Order: sequence, then structure tokens, then C-alpha cells
Amino acid sequence: MKRLLPLMAGVVLLLSACGRADLSTLNPQGAVAQEQFNLMKLSFIIMLLVVIVVFAIAIYVLVRFRRRPGDNKIPVQVEGNHKLEIIWTVIPLILLVILGVPTIQSVFALSQDYSKDPKAVVVNVTSHQYWWEFEYPGLGVKTAQELVVPIGTKIAVEAKSADVLHSFWIPALAGKIDTNPGGNVNRMYFETPAKEGIFLGKCAELCGPSHSLMDFKVKVVDQASFDNWVAAMKAPAVLPEDPAIAQKFQSQCLSCHAVGDMGGPAFPNLTGIGDRETVGGILVNTENPKYQNEGSTYDNLYRWIKDPQAVKPGNQMPKIDLTEQELAGISKYLAEYKLNYESETLANNDATDDSQESKE
Ligand code: CUA
Repeated sequence: MKRLLPLMAGVVLLLSACGRADLSTLNPQGAVAQEQFNLMKLSFIIMLLVVIVVFAIAIYVLVRFRRRPGDNKIPVQVEGNHKLEIIWTVIPLILLVILGVPTIQSVFALSQDYSKDPKAVVVNVTSHQYWWEFEYPGLGVKTAQELVVPIGTKIAVEAKSADVLHSFWIPALAGKIDTNPGGNVNRMYFETPAKEGIFLGKCAELCGPSHSLMDFKVKVVDQASFDNWVAAMKAPAVLPEDPAIAQKFQSQCLSCHAVGDMGGPAFPNLTGIGDRETVGGILVNTENPKYQNEGSTYDNLYRWIKDPQAVKPGNQMPKIDLTEQELAGISKYLAEYKLNYESETLANNDATDDSQESKE
């Protein structure tokens, strides 16, 4: 037994080094994710223990009690042996109690409702085919695709769906919770880590042809950046400088989308879209594109507006009839629509920079 301990410790260490900090449950960020990871470790250790002991006994018995040549005796029959039956009934019971007590404790602790806690940030999450809406009822702000939250804070999530079933999941921070249609609200909370970072969120419920493209980001920023962001979100809208482009943008885009205090609420809010890490949640904004789904913010916006269905099949955005000049003008305007609220570190984040993916 003593010799197994270093092995198990090694496996646990190995596991905790697995995965990127921005998207893996095995590299938890924040208190909620850490607690969920601890439960995983506990069940993994128990499982490993059972496997090792069972295999050791099985191998020992196979070798020690195999039939020798010339030995035709019937071995001692042990069926109905009370002592053995009690032992192999009690051991699993003990293991289940060891696993069950902390699991139940965590389940209740993690289902606390912090929506009335004045220190928590309340976010109403609404899922749509195939994008995420984030409304901050206490702050009077609504955004899409990027959940901006302050460091070291409890985030009370009230989740629902505008259409079909989806599931809200941020692997590195917490999760996951189903979003249901019909006014049914599911609650969960997570705690942001004590340092800034950008975390990948996913839809974890098959919801249509673009389910796998229904990504979002959680941007954890320092308190000053968060306050700047809220103020900038509430500032009056900025329209394109070119009056012809502005007119087109208002008539074609603002019927569904909003910027600042203008436009419609039905589809993703575009205020400060130039700051976001992605376009449409899936086209990664970067100055060093390496993969098919990467490009500059301008290129990604251009590609998306030109043919939204080619990027995310089945989404609700139609192809708009725009001249080349209008398409370029609107893409440029949106790419430059920044709120400039982020700190240096976060603003210089590059999603394709491999050093970001190293273990922390
Ligand atoms: Cu939404 Cu899968």
C-alpha cells in the first residue's frame, strides 16, 4: 500500500497539470471550479485504488492458485462464506460514503443563491441559436458573446433560453447549467479568479447545426476596467462618420442590433464589438492568423456580414444586400468600435499566442 501512494500522488499531480488555463476543467480557475476539481480528484483516487487492489488480487490469485500438472484435487469451495460476503459488501459502502459526503456537501454549497448578495454581480444569461446574451440587471447593461466580469467576485447567473435547450458552460470556471425555454430560470454561481484572464465558454447541449460553434468568452478584468466598461457601455452610441454608411448601418443593422442607446434588442448588442476576442463567437480576432477561423477583426467582420450562413449555418442573420463599399465601411466602423476599457495585459492578449496556452 505504501508503495502505491507515490504513484497516486504522481497521477494527481499529472492531472492537475493537464489542460489550458483558459478552457480546461483540469486546470480550474476560481473557487467554484477548484471545488469541482477536488471532487473529481477524490473520485479518481477512489477509482484508482479499487482498480489497483482488484487487479493485484486477481493477478496474485491467478499465479498462486493455478492448477499444477498432476494436481486433480477440487479446491476448497468458498461460496456462502459469510466473512467474505460481509467484507466485499462493506468495502464499497465505505467507499460510497467517502465519495458521497463531500459530494453532497459541495452540491448544496454550490447551489447557493447569491442573486441578493450586494457584493455579487447578477447576470441574466439568455441563450439563442447560436449566441449568448448577457444582461446585468443591476447595472442596466446588456451585451452579447462576451461576459465581462470583475476579478475575485461571485457571479450569480440566472439562465434561460429564447428558443431551444442550450447549456451554459465555462469549463475552467464552473459549470454547467441547462438553459430552458418557457420562462423557466435556472440558477448557478461561479467565482472569478483573483487575476485577469479570458476564458472560453461553450454551449454544452446539442441545439442545432451550429451547436459546436456556439462559443462565448468570459473576460475577467480588474475592478477599474470593469467600472470603465460599464460606463462606456452606457455612453451614447457612436455612428459611422461617413453619412452614407451611417444611414445604411441604421436602416440595415439597427433594426435588429443595438449600439449604445440606439437600435433594436432582438439580436446581439454590438456596442464595443471591436474590443471582442471573436466575431460571431467563433471567428478569432488576431493580427497573426494561422487557422481558417482566424483573421483581423476587420476581416472577420467582413467575412461574417458578407455571408453569415457560411460561418455559422442555421443562424438567424440574413445575408444583407450591401455594395462592396458599404460592406467594407460597416466592417471598418465595427472593427474600430472599441470601448478601450481593458488593462494593458488583457488588451494585448492574442488568442493564437501559444505562450498563452502554457501551463500555469
Ligand atoms: Cu446551443 Cu448547443
